[in-house]
Amino acid sequence: MVAEPSETDETIANLLHEQRRFPPEASFAAQANATSSDYEEAAGDRLAFWARQADRLDWSQKWSEVLDWSNPPFAKWFVGGRLNAAYNCLDRHVAAGRGEKVAYYFEGEVGDTRTITYAQLTRMVCQAANTLTRLGVMPGDRVAIYMPMIPETVVAMLACARIGAPHTVVFGGFSADALRTRIHDCDARIVITSDGAYRRGKATGLKSAVDEALLDCPDVRNVLVVRRTGQEIDWTPGRDIWWHESVELASTEHNAEAFDAEHPLYVMYTSGTTGKPKGILHTTGGYLTGCAYTHWAVFDLKAESDIFWTAADIGWVTGHSYIVYGPLANGATSVLYEGTPDTPHQGRWWEIIDKYNVSILYCAPTAIRTFMKWGAGIPAKYSLRSLRLIGSVGEPINPAAYMWYRENIGHGQTPVVDTWWQTETGAIMISPLPGVTAGKPGAAMRPLPGVAADVVNDAGTPVENGSGGYLVLTEPWPSMLRTIWGDNDRYVDTYWSRFPGLYFAGDGAKKDDDGDIWLLGRVDDVMNVAGHRLSTTEIESALVAHPKVAEAAVVGALDETTGQAIVAFVILRTEAGDGGPEVVQELREHVAKEIGKIARPRQIMVVAELPKTRSGKIMRRLLKDVAQDRPIGDVTTLADSSVMDLIKAGMPGGA
Ligand code: WTA
Repeated sequence: MVAEPSETDETIANLLHEQRRFPPEASFAAQANATSSDYEEAAGDRLAFWARQADRLDWSQKWSEVLDWSNPPFAKWFVGGRLNAAYNCLDRHVAAGRGEKVAYYFEGEVGDTRTITYAQLTRMVCQAANTLTRLGVMPGDRVAIYMPMIPETVVAMLACARIGAPHTVVFGGFSADALRTRIHDCDARIVITSDGAYRRGKATGLKSAVDEALLDCPDVRNVLVVRRTGQEIDWTPGRDIWWHESVELASTEHNAEAFDAEHPLYVMYTSGTTGKPKGILHTTGGYLTGCAYTHWAVFDLKAESDIFWTAADIGWVTGHSYIVYGPLANGATSVLYEGTPDTPHQGRWWEIIDKYNVSILYCAPTAIRTFMKWGAGIPAKYSLRSLRLIGSVGEPINPAAYMWYRENIGHGQTPVVDTWWQTETGAIMISPLPGVTAGKPGAAMRPLPGVAADVVNDAGTPVENGSGGYLVLTEPWPSMLRTIWGDNDRYVDTYWSRFPGLYFAGDGAKKDDDGDIWLLGRVDDVMNVAGHRLSTTEIESALVAHPKVAEAAVVGALDETTGQAIVAFVILRTEAGDGGPEVVQELREHVAKEIGKIARPRQIMVVAELPKTRSGKIMRRLLKDVAQDRPIGDVTTLADSSVMDLIKAGMPGGA
């Protein structure tokens, strides 16, 4: 009955004709955390609503004002309030007698497991906090974290939070170059890493990439190294310190100092429309409030009984908010899984769900589409009956994937929450409320209580129901980014200039006849590849940095599994020859090395010319047509319209 995964523009067309609705089951609604009156209540007095949500946290000093928006777009939330994020995630649960509750069930890819309680996690974080302090880390100093998905990554983050040192977690799949740029940009002085990581059954190196990155980071004083794989690594005496010879020997007592609500909590780099990644700054009180509330409301979290699993990497914002800060602030039990979904077999996720009785699963559509490809027979071998709610994040979920997810994973019963948000928003903004909303496959539905979103046209005017435009957020929210690290102008330009007074998200969206919101993908030069944000410009810069490349243009072509795939068009320098398969392979590897494997183009096409307007702007739209093998659109603005014929002729199967 379930349709094949269909992609392409058809999906978008289908999406808008999708009529099915799944009203909440009465039994679910009866026990749900959220109620329909939350919307009206929040709309009545938004700031009072958020103040009530901030009361989910322990404040050592209460705020005097909920929001200071006197200097927009620079927000201050919970003005004058003081708190410690790690205390809120740890100590207070222990103090309340919940120290023996499990914080994480860790499942290593190679099959090793660890069960870590709140009391244990608190002690580990205190040890790491003491170690960082001993290494001279002061409140406000930045610490870079480049780690696999292991408990020490959470410990490292919370230790930073505990001493007020903003962390910047760099996804372990990024290259040494990418790590170096981020260390430079936020001027980190300490790096926390591990010898290596397990990935598809193999030990891969992380410390080696840190060593390479640090060749050009003279200000980094120390590298704290967790032993994960036991592989051989190079060692720089004086600089490198083993975690087990420092952190694990340190005192388990540490008094958490309270910081201002607006004290920086972390910087997370994300791709923008230029080549340079943006350091998104989140602060303490508002961010934690947003994570705690949304984790409770959107996932219907019952801290006493749920087993929650966000199957994402901690190196992305989804991991920050829904593996670390939201679940821990709420005292929940989570699963932390190190590896890939098909190691050692394609049923690994479902095996984990049955093993730990996971009740809430949160993952990306790209994973769901991969499972669809592997076949429904695989999850069918498992019970999955413990699941009572499933969620999706990171890209538009096409109705076919939504239906497959609901039928095959959610046994045709569980609510599915399609959650829209961004690194910049810190927490979920648009999503069905389980137990309240009648879900529509493919729609993120409505802004959460306390969140104000709309879809506007080019002039910034809200569109009518039934029409599309740009997604904007119309009021500030507690977990909003505060700025781009070190670049207030870029913050204002990127998000607040396109439509004055409105936050421009960079996504296209449509309001259906009921006014519910459907996300349609990015409207800028940002691609979404398997749920990872990458900028076309960033990859173009990497390509042109190669001595054989004269010019490059990159587009995101629709892809059945990964949503978008990277397709590059390059013009080679004359001396590079005509570009055989070896050159193409060399260039793909070059991009992987410069940025990371996730940025390796699926395809590189060597061309003689690129389509440009008379003003010299590359028309990516036309290249996208070629990459997707569909009829070429309007070429009248091209400086030389025969270019497209040339490019088409050069393609496999071209005329
Ligand atoms: C996309 C990930 C459609 C969107 C949390 C956004 C989505 C970008 C959804 C942010 C969704 C995220 N439906 N699109 N439910 N969730 N996106 O910063 O384009 O890695 O702008 O944050 O992912 O990606 P980021």
